[in-house]
Amino acid sequence: MTAAAQPLPAEGWTTADGRKIGPVLMEMKNITLRFGGVKAITDISFDIREGEIRAIIGPNGAGKSSMLNVISGFYVPQEGEVWFRGAKRPPTKPYEVARQGIARTFQNIALFEGMSVLNNIMTGRLTLMKSNMAQQALWWGAAQREEDEHREKVEKIIDFLEIQHIRKTPVGRLPYGLKKRVELARALAAEPKLLLLDEPMAGMNVEEKEDMCRFILDVNDEFGTTIALIEHDMGVVMDLSDRVVVMDYGKKIGDGPPDEIRSNQAVIDAYLGVSHD
Ligand SMILES: Nc1ncnc2c1ncn2[C@@H]1O[C@H](COP(=O)(O)OP(=O)(O)O)[C@@H](O)[C@H]1O
Ligand SMILES: [Mg+2]
Repeated sequence: MTAAAQPLPAEGWTTADGRKIGPVLMEMKNITLRFGGVKAITDISFDIREGEIRAIIGPNGAGKSSMLNVISGFYVPQEGEVWFRGAKRPPTKPYEVARQGIARTFQNIALFEGMSVLNNIMTGRLTLMKSNMAQQALWWGAAQREEDEHREKVEKIIDFLEIQHIRKTPVGRLPYGLKKRVELARALAAEPKLLLLDEPMAGMNVEEKEDMCRFILDVNDEFGTTIALIEHDMGVVMDLSDRVVVMDYGKKIGDGPPDEIRSNQAVIDAYLGVSHD
């Protein structure tokens, strides 16, 4: 590990493949999260830059999902500060966090199995609807025009993720890889500034993984969406991410570009002899 890494330019930088990384979008400062006696996260700090793809890696139980849950407002840490878009965020409920422009997918798929793909994705827009719309949009004719606008946006996402052919299919009937894609579509429907993906490729075959990788890159490129993702497949992490945070037993043991992380001894040690299912 380099003992004293150069500070990164505040205004951002351009990557080797010509992508623009901007200033800090989100900053986690000295976050500690406990569940009773269990310390899931211990004094972790890192930032996420505008436009970057930021990976969080580490063995099972390292605290990665807990960290995403702190970012999404699902858990409130006992210590530390969460800064988003230049302001310190007070303890904030998940739906408020969603309104501020943060969307997520889950480690275990959380879709409505009996509902069509289209309607599942529509639920992703609920945070953007007026409050009475949120209750009535899908059912009341009076809200038709606003619903049409939402539907149009959703159809664009459906095209973008190449799932036109299953738009009317109940999610419960879809193979795993497509369910994950629908979950991504639902998160995108909220037009997030920051997209959180918890193991978007877990359980996928090689082809499904390749597709998902391509879609993640396209989302980042096309919509300029900043992405923080948890992923176990090191090949995927190295290919996709601009910078990587490494967690182990709730602590941060590495933070930097993929090349640097690959040769970080603490990271190599943490991964030796550990199963990553
Ligand atoms: N809701 C919870 N209640 C109690 N302990 C939890 C809870 N969520 C996570 N933990 C514990 O926190 C630690 C980190 O878990 P997690 O964030 O899920 O790790 P990862 O996603 O890296 O596998 C584990 O020891 C786990 O058992
Ligand atoms: Mg997890």
